[in-house]
Amino acid sequence: MSIITPEKCVGMCSDHAGFELKNKLKALLESRGIKVKDFGTYSEESCDYPDFAHPCAAAVESGECYPGIAMCGTGNGIAMTLNKHQGIRAALCWTTDLARLAREHNDANVLVLPARFIDAAVAEGIMDTFLNTAFEGGRHERRVAKIPMES
Ligand code: RB5
Repeated sequence: MSIITPEKCVGMCSDHAGFELKNKLKALLESRGIKVKDFGTYSEESCDYPDFAHPCAAAVESGECYPGIAMCGTGNGIAMTLNKHQGIRAALCWTTDLARLAREHNDANVLVLPARFIDAAVAEGIMDTFLNTAFEGGRHERRVAKIPMES
């Protein structure tokens, strides 16, 4: 069952390295009637991933978007930025098994893809696995609840 709900749009963001993949995945989601909010970047011009990751993370945190899908060249920079937000659990995934476990065990709310290391067909499979896997809860609930830093 899909984790996408009709009330919320999927939030997407990338830097220039992820721009092409973001466009492909966005078009695929939209062709399925899924609403997407694209936080940029909007071209292949060199840019800084935090400029797009922070607004996307804020929209997932506020509940405007769920889930998020993000990508940069390696996935690392954008994942590091997203995970600075207390309410974000961004998971860098390059296989479908990692995507499934990020949902089942970590209740990941942002999927991060390494755009320069996987092709579009692999990325599509990872995205679909992520979007169609529920959080297992149980023992994982307690662990996930302990992730945010105490204020
Ligand atoms: C951009 O060249 C590249 O550094 C960026 O996409 C990403 O891989 C950073 O983590």
